[in-house]
Amino acid sequence: MLEHLTVVKHPLVQHKLTLMREKDTSTNSFRRLLREISQLLAYEITREMEMTTKHIETPLCPMDAPVIDGKKLALISILRAGNGLLDGVLELIPAARVGFVGLYRDPETLQPVQYYYKVPSELENRLVIALDPMLATGNSSAAAVDLLKKSGARNIRFMCLLAAPEGVARMKEAHPDVPIVTAAVDDCLNDHGYIVPGLGDAGDRMFGTK
Ligand code: URA
Repeated sequence: MLEHLTVVKHPLVQHKLTLMREKDTSTNSFRRLLREISQLLAYEITREMEMTTKHIETPLCPMDAPVIDGKKLALISILRAGNGLLDGVLELIPAARVGFVGLYRDPETLQPVQYYYKVPSELENRLVIALDPMLATGNSSAAAVDLLKKSGARNIRFMCLLAAPEGVARMKEAHPDVPIVTAAVDDCLNDHGYIVPGLGDAGDRMFGTK
């Protein structure tokens, strides 16, 4: 079993994350670095997948060789910043099925409201990896996981680039069965819900919007 929280401390991840945090890093570099880190995080988050063997013939002899068991896994991008993780993970796992969850925060109630939801069939038989670079308050992440569970998902993991302690705690309370894999847990959230020291608005930085 993966721990509830895995912080990937590998030097390549930490070095690339520092480049991403710097405020003068270009949109182009930010996007490339995010794609590269997403693949290193994918390597960690796909540990302990069910394996089986397949009978093959090498040029020398037959053998029973290991392959991943079960149905194709499902990658779920939590819009819009999740798409920045999705591209890289899909390069590594090109046969994965893909879904999207769109949520916005109601300005009155501050609760997440769903505006888009499209996920692959048979989530109950798949490893489901939810993708969102920033685990801030954790409210929208917890709501997205609620929706995935309502669709039948039982084996869910959550990938993010940066997490706030508040977001980790919220997810642990709402979904203790969902392991989180991240590159760092930062200090806190500020009054606007940004992760500090963080890297700013991940969506704006990867898409070049303001
Ligand atoms: N979303 C972001 O893009 N950045 C943060 O710091 C928090 C939430």
